[in-house]
Amino acid sequence: MGFSTDCIHAGNAPDPTTGSVTVPIYQTSTYVQEGLGKHKGYEYGRTQNPTRSALEENLAVLEGGAGARAFASGMAAITAISTLVKAGDHVVCSNMTYGGTYRYYTKILANYGVTFSFVDTASPADVERAIRPETKMLHLESPTNPTLQLCDIAVLSELAHRNGAVVVVDNTFASPYLQKPLALGADIVMHSTTKFLGGHSDTVGGAAIAKSKEHVEWLSFVQNSSGAILSPMDSWLVLRGIKTLSVRMERHEVNGRAVAEHLAKHPKVKKVNYPGLASHPQHGLAKKQMSGFGALISFELGSLENAGAFLGKVRLCSLGESLGGVETLISHPATMTHASIPEEERNRLGVTPGLVRISVGIEDLEDILADLDNALTAIS
Ligand SMILES: Cc1ncc(COP(=O)(O)O)c(C=O)c1O
Repeated sequence: MGFSTDCIHAGNAPDPTTGSVTVPIYQTSTYVQEGLGKHKGYEYGRTQNPTRSALEENLAVLEGGAGARAFASGMAAITAISTLVKAGDHVVCSNMTYGGTYRYYTKILANYGVTFSFVDTASPADVERAIRPETKMLHLESPTNPTLQLCDIAVLSELAHRNGAVVVVDNTFASPYLQKPLALGADIVMHSTTKFLGGHSDTVGGAAIAKSKEHVEWLSFVQNSSGAILSPMDSWLVLRGIKTLSVRMERHEVNGRAVAEHLAKHPKVKKVNYPGLASHPQHGLAKKQMSGFGALISFELGSLENAGAFLGKVRLCSLGESLGGVETLISHPATMTHASIPEEERNRLGVTPGLVRISVGIEDLEDILADLDNALTAIS
């Protein structure tokens, strides 16, 4: 089936009891068993839930994996995947990764004997230099948050596999509509379903989709053992959000490109990071690896003062963390999503005090542009 058809139908079989077109929210903690050892495949809510299973089936199809597991948040999915490494192992990770991932790796997992190298994954040579005999995982994010840097997933997967490391790709920014990391060679894809998959800023969740049955089995075991499951209601919200993923992404893409081009021409904007612009250093890779460029843009206003004045004047664009919702969300990475990264490191990575990130929504383009133009008048 085509991608849009899969978004609507994969995992979404009519309810066997009533014929309900939408998968019911099975809001239950347990299931009655007919007798000892006799049940319908459902024993306890943490272990199995039909609404969650429907979402997992849907996600496995969209990403082309052997299976998917849904977790309580994107970070819970990353935590579950990270159980593939143990004390003594080494992980190579993008130095532009989401701040929460960096915090989890450096402040928590590092306490358990796992070591990390944060490198510029745009450079395969830098990744190769960082790989050691004990490297067991390569954690990639493409495009990265918030500087919209890309990495070549196919080349890096090949490199990691030659050295026996598992490749994990955070596909949150692109969504499977724009990028399919498993087809490019990765082993596991993760999402913060809070973002484009849910799409309506009304749920927090995460997912891990694996190419091999062995990884799916391990993730199922971890999901049940550590328990950070996605609730039935949240599973249903994500399942419903995904039904319109294609049409939302089409509109996100049109608006995203137009906003990026508009900002790039604006005299108050010093620099625009967007893979769809010919000026982006990896525009060629974006065209090769992605089927579009998405709706995330970051741009440089020169100083904290300018960023503050601009963010204080937006009206339609909502100032807030998160991204991927139908509404345009705007944020200040240095003080919000990336505050957990040391200042010096942030500046080195381009997460400067003047950097603003925008997740372009699907409102009328003219209204978004008018709001941005008006807010930019706050900068002298
Ligand atoms: C790229 C990326 N990965 C992971 C996460 C973590 O997801 P969650 O907030 O659902 O735990 C985020 C959250 O912003 C993100 O932007």
